[in-house]
Amino acid sequence: MPFTIAIDGPAAAGKGTISKAVAAHFGFAHLDTGLLYRAVGRRMLAGDAPIDAAQSLTQEDLERDDLRTPEVAQAASKVAVISEVRAALLDFQRAFARRADGAVLDGRDIGTVICPEAEAKLFVTASAEIRAQRRFAELAPQGLASNLDEVLADVRARDERDMNRADAPLKPAKDAVIIDTSTLDIAEAVAAAITAVDARR
Ligand code: DC
Repeated sequence: MPFTIAIDGPAAAGKGTISKAVAAHFGFAHLDTGLLYRAVGRRMLAGDAPIDAAQSLTQEDLERDDLRTPEVAQAASKVAVISEVRAALLDFQRAFARRADGAVLDGRDIGTVICPEAEAKLFVTASAEIRAQRRFAELAPQGLASNLDEVLADVRARDERDMNRADAPLKPAKDAVIIDTSTLDIAEAVAAAITAVDARR
């Protein structure tokens, strides 16, 4: 039976890690919807018009190994403001959400716009400083960040854009369970998420 778990929240709050663990726990498929916007953002950086890119996204676009850079993250947040880009990505996300064997989708607007009927909704957040520290620890060893202050400024710029856009702004759904991971380790955050989903099953 379809069962949709919507996991929203700001950049680097731990959504990806929690979503993968929750999907594995319940045996559900997982879609990182940020990857769709990153793939469109990367194509914009390569010279394509964002709306055209969103309307012609391929599996190959989604499987590239250069979608996790800070430049692509900012580009993703910029193309995500464009309503036609969001509209082009809607059907794919909704179809994924209703697959027969259960689905976890993580993003910014899953519980509010993509799947307002999701059986379980989580909003995963943490302070901007903690999120920047975590993102810096992830990017620095790959040579993708050299300075914590820059990462913090990037996180804040994305928060600002993602929360204040007119179409599908980042905000918790009214019926979302809020999980603040600022003082939780990964195991605690995953356990809190599983408990919240179990309460809806
Ligand atoms: O989750 P992420 O950091 O990979 O997302 C990259 C950007 O994509 C994010 O800053 C805003 C946009 N995004 C969105 O607008 N809606 C989603 N459901 C997922 C991501």
